[in-house]
Amino acid sequence: MGNRFENKVAVVTGGASGLGEATARLLVAEGGKVVVADYDATRGQAVADSLGDAARFAKCDVTVESDVAAAIDLAVDTWGRLDGAFANAGIVGVAGPIADTPMDDFDRTIAVLLRGVFVTVKHAARAMQAAGNGGSIVMTSSVAGVQGGLGPHAYSVAKTGVVGLARSAASELASSGIRVNAVAPGSIPTAMTAHVTTGNPDDLEKVTEHVARTSPLGRAGLPNDIAEAVLYFMSDGGSYVTGQTIVVDAGITSGAKMSPTWAGTRMVVARPAD
Ligand SMILES: NC(=O)c1ccc[n+]([C@@H]2O[C@H](COP(=O)([O-])OP(=O)(O)OC[C@H]3O[C@@H](n4cnc5c(N)ncnc54)[C@H](O)[C@@H]3O)[C@@H](O)[C@H]2O)c1
Repeated sequence: MGNRFENKVAVVTGGASGLGEATARLLVAEGGKVVVADYDATRGQAVADSLGDAARFAKCDVTVESDVAAAIDLAVDTWGRLDGAFANAGIVGVAGPIADTPMDDFDRTIAVLLRGVFVTVKHAARAMQAAGNGGSIVMTSSVAGVQGGLGPHAYSVAKTGVVGLARSAASELASSGIRVNAVAPGSIPTAMTAHVTTGNPDDLEKVTEHVARTSPLGRAGLPNDIAEAVLYFMSDGGSYVTGQTIVVDAGITSGAKMSPTWAGTRMVVARPAD
């Protein structure tokens, strides 16, 4: 238990599982209150129940604006304030060659991954501006939003849009003391990645082994690694940072490899001795 989010209130979309669940748990462990907002009522209610009086569940489909507005309002009505919002709910969406992509599926993917994030930022900003105490909004992008070839096309479009929205919304909302940032995870074992890697959303063990094998840092990233980045943005430590996307991927998009070619035994110096 810490105090990095003490007496503060946040809404977490996609809070029933994976990165959202880990973030909801960390914010509560750090002294805060959370609305767990998700369209999976069974898991979402269970997560909220396990957090006791520090959490409420809101059944919320992020493609439905009134659901998102209600989840935000639940936080304000219950605890009288809103300090943070994590716009995180997501799916993989339509995958496959661009020439074969059904546009209805593209639209449905964007509706969750980009429009759903936008509408969460919209209503979080509405509530925070009305209270006049500032706030911190964090969105989930992806390494697929900062580099090509790391996700399906529609997913990459949406996640790149989130990086742009962080800059755009930050530029407007700074004058209200509201910061807007994004976190861009690499592959983290969750139901989503387990489903993609093994076909079984519950097989976290196999996906964890897979991620650990390909991680330059020699271990799998964990949902809590992402939750810590979100908490940085939402806590006082990140209070001078806005419009940014932080990549949490063990260095993969920076070119880090399992066995770096430069990591040999030869000594490399800028100015060799005679
Ligand atoms: N796990 C990773 O490796 C990874 C990497 C990069 C980005 N992401 C992103 O992280 C976010 C969370 O994914 P995760 O890995 O925790 O997956 P997850 O499947 O464990 O969690 C996603 C949650 O979002 C909810 N959700 C989906 N559609 C929704 C909707 N329309 N309305 C409300 N809730 C909805 C699901 O019910 C689920 O609880 C997503 O935006 C995903 O794209 C994940």
